[in-house]
Amino acid sequence: MQKNPFRDALSKERVAEPCTMVIFGATGDLTRRKLVPALCSIARDRLLPTGFGVVGFARRNWSAARFREEMLAGVNEFSRSRPVVPALWDDFARGLDFVQGEFGDPAAYKRLAASLERVDAERGTHGNHLFYLATPPVHYPEIIRELGRAGLAGSAGSPWSRIIIEKPFGRDLDSARDLNARALEVFTEEQIYRIDHYLGKETVQNILVMRFANGIFEPLWNQKYVDHVQITVAEDIGMEGRGAYYDSAGILRDMVQNHMMQLLCLTAMEPPVAFNAAEVRNEKVKVLHAVRPIEGDEVARHSVRGRYTAGFIGGQEVPGYTDEKGVAPGSRTETYVAIRLFIDNWRWEGVPFYLRSGKRLSKRATEIAIQFKQVPHLLFGGDSGAIEPNVLALRIQPDEGISLKMTSKTPGTAVSLQPVVMDFRYGTSFGAEPPEAYERLLLDCMMGDSTLFTRRDEVEEAWRFVGGLLDAWESTAPPPLYPYEAGTWGPMEASSLIHRWRRL
Ligand code: BG6
Repeated sequence: MQKNPFRDALSKERVAEPCTMVIFGATGDLTRRKLVPALCSIARDRLLPTGFGVVGFARRNWSAARFREEMLAGVNEFSRSRPVVPALWDDFARGLDFVQGEFGDPAAYKRLAASLERVDAERGTHGNHLFYLATPPVHYPEIIRELGRAGLAGSAGSPWSRIIIEKPFGRDLDSARDLNARALEVFTEEQIYRIDHYLGKETVQNILVMRFANGIFEPLWNQKYVDHVQITVAEDIGMEGRGAYYDSAGILRDMVQNHMMQLLCLTAMEPPVAFNAAEVRNEKVKVLHAVRPIEGDEVARHSVRGRYTAGFIGGQEVPGYTDEKGVAPGSRTETYVAIRLFIDNWRWEGVPFYLRSGKRLSKRATEIAIQFKQVPHLLFGGDSGAIEPNVLALRIQPDEGISLKMTSKTPGTAVSLQPVVMDFRYGTSFGAEPPEAYERLLLDCMMGDSTLFTRRDEVEEAWRFVGGLLDAWESTAPPPLYPYEAGTWGPMEASSLIHRWRRL
């Protein structure tokens, strides 16, 4: 059998503890597309504890049998390990139960407690409970409150109870603080797992390994040698049926506050003294703390926002944002943003970080590019050709890998220079598909490892920064919202922020 290094790394020290996972919002998209398919892949890889059950909780009146059926369809459509082997599914499905109820109804939590008792007894889950909030965020406070009232919040000890809270975590600093406060009335910080699925991606975790397990990059990773950093999260998809949610969020809340700020932290943080939750998160929060706020008049100087109009993606005509289902008439929501920010600390003084993200761009590409400063003196003058700066590009997805652009001599008698690329690709080097982000994160939570989850202060610091931009955009005299055609790289105006965006 071919060796799978991703699995080796997981199986060496990682054993999940028996538990029952309760999914609030069990009839929704996230459960069918991501959560249950991830659990099945973990089961297939024999990383799921034998004592394991799932209780789905939702408002829709499904039976346990219907829940099982729908989940099987989801697994066969979306799981990395599809189609699921019947014996594996049968065993997994025996541990699935369903509770129908309103999220604020105490009687429903009595039914939940009874179901948990049954599943715990049947599946030997030792009374450990993992609650997953996969509902629209408006229900988070009542679910948390009712779990507390029903005596289900338990403790961090043994048996343990933990709660995973999906994004968006609040819609601004005040609401995030409020949600944190409510969650902390019922659970301890140790029990709370704020999920950001980007942290579960292999290539995102590899940012730290690449930086801190190699001797050659770290000495150059600072203002002395780095000219600037570009972080791009481009998507070619549009609303995908999520128009109503998106219209109330926009790209700043949907992608920047969480995923992009996390990529920024991992790129810019100092080496932690140990690879554990406290130390890693301490260093990440320091980065957020040092990000220079962009507020008031500065917003128009340091950011550009845009919104797609109709266009073509892969030869297919697609509608403009305002014609998407669920988008309110007169909406002012942005689907693109480009930001130039600075991190005011010793390492990054004066180095611009450029962030851009958009829906309906030319293609899907997530990348972090470190552009180094030019050589101090040009030795090869005349017509030898231009020397382009070195760029280290971490390709997060797709085509996962790392490349380093260098200048080389073109073969021949003349001294002629040309950029060349040294390329590492996950696909070719490891020959195996890495686990899905949710697989890794669910396992981590079952093991009580919160390193890849965000801490209270991180979430609040990220909102503090994003809040400056939001305030200006939502003010009475907001900066312009520039149109861009679907299938392009965003509004032309974004080029005013930077000498040259990378072509991806
Ligand atoms: C989600 C956003 O958090 O991330 C979506 O709500 C976005 O709008 C998605 O499409 C992108 O995730 P991924 O893993 O496809 O890059």
